[in-house]
Amino acid sequence: MTDNLGSIIRSQVKNKALFEQAKSYAYDYMDTIHDRPVFPSPGVLEKLSVFDEPLPGNMGDSEKILTLLHEYGSPATVAQTGNRYFGFVNGGVTPAAIAAKWLSDVWDQNAGLFVISPIAACLEAICEKWLVDLFELPEKTKAGFVSGTSAATLCGLAAARNFLLKQAGWDVHKKGVFNAPKIKIVLGEEAHSTVFKTLSLLGFGLDDLIRVRTDRQGRMIASELPVLDETTMVIAQAGNVHTGGFDPFHEICDKAHKARAWVHIDGAFGLWAKGSENKKHLTAGIEKADSWSVDAHKTLNAPYDCGVVLCRDEAALVSALQNTGAYIQYGKNRDGMLYTAEMSRRARSVELWATLKFFGRKGIENLIISL
Ligand SMILES: Cc1ncc(COP(=O)(O)O)c(C=O)c1O
Repeated sequence: MTDNLGSIIRSQVKNKALFEQAKSYAYDYMDTIHDRPVFPSPGVLEKLSVFDEPLPGNMGDSEKILTLLHEYGSPATVAQTGNRYFGFVNGGVTPAAIAAKWLSDVWDQNAGLFVISPIAACLEAICEKWLVDLFELPEKTKAGFVSGTSAATLCGLAAARNFLLKQAGWDVHKKGVFNAPKIKIVLGEEAHSTVFKTLSLLGFGLDDLIRVRTDRQGRMIASELPVLDETTMVIAQAGNVHTGGFDPFHEICDKAHKARAWVHIDGAFGLWAKGSENKKHLTAGIEKADSWSVDAHKTLNAPYDCGVVLCRDEAALVSALQNTGAYIQYGKNRDGMLYTAEMSRRARSVELWATLKFFGRKGIENLIISL
């Protein structure tokens, strides 16, 4: 960093005008969100061309940068936080979580290792414990905090693939996936599109898949499951994005485990049904699976991006996502990168923790009942 750059940054940190300006724009956004269209008008979208310029040659003025964002960017957002947005299965955000996120933005923590961020590691451990408790999963289930369910499913299915191939005497780390023994992949006709993307990233093609017929709610018909064996990965769904349907987990998991197969559940928005006394019957049997993916940025209304992979077999998850280097110091405390595909990650556990602490069991119950 040049002296000049260093002194600009030091003076901005010292006088706080930029942050006051950001705070006032943020308040302005919050105060006007209820009076504007949920989706920006064509005129507003046209004005986004203001951002279209060559990479600036010279350094910019921070206050002007922020003004540009507020004048042209704020109106071009989708008003997800104003209680009037019902698109997709996207969530909003609570003031408690936004405030916690603002604070943690200033912290700018890397959640990769305990030695880089003890607070991120501590809050990951707490969130892991709370989520395992809320979803009533096996006690030793480990959680990885990732960007969303797509990433969570990638981690869960990577653990599944390597575990099943190990059972078949094949070490993916040494031998890769080409020429590996065949893995049988079983999933419902209505599996989410991100599952197919994930499978493709993991080296599986559409021709490798056995698609089980589904009923009118998009639930797998358990009696139509093929013969499962110790090379099988079954991918079930807690919450079909079109119908809200939940697969019959007891039947699927019982059959799979008799055969030493692995079951992953994509529970992007639906796993949260476990947090409601009158909806939890939908999730009956999820605790028998081996891995799960879920989004806190959906039903729970945590800020983006906040997904979680959960896996009952810590060794399988860690070994699939392993990363070593002479300078990487794992310790006896939680090192978050062991459970995710990324090394550096922002400390999203801060907002997740704040969201869970704000809602508590009662708030989560209310959220789900009101869906
Ligand atoms: C069932 C299901 N699985 C996976 C996803 C993908 O989640 P994400 O966008 O967090 O990657 C979605 C998104 O809507 C979903 O509904």
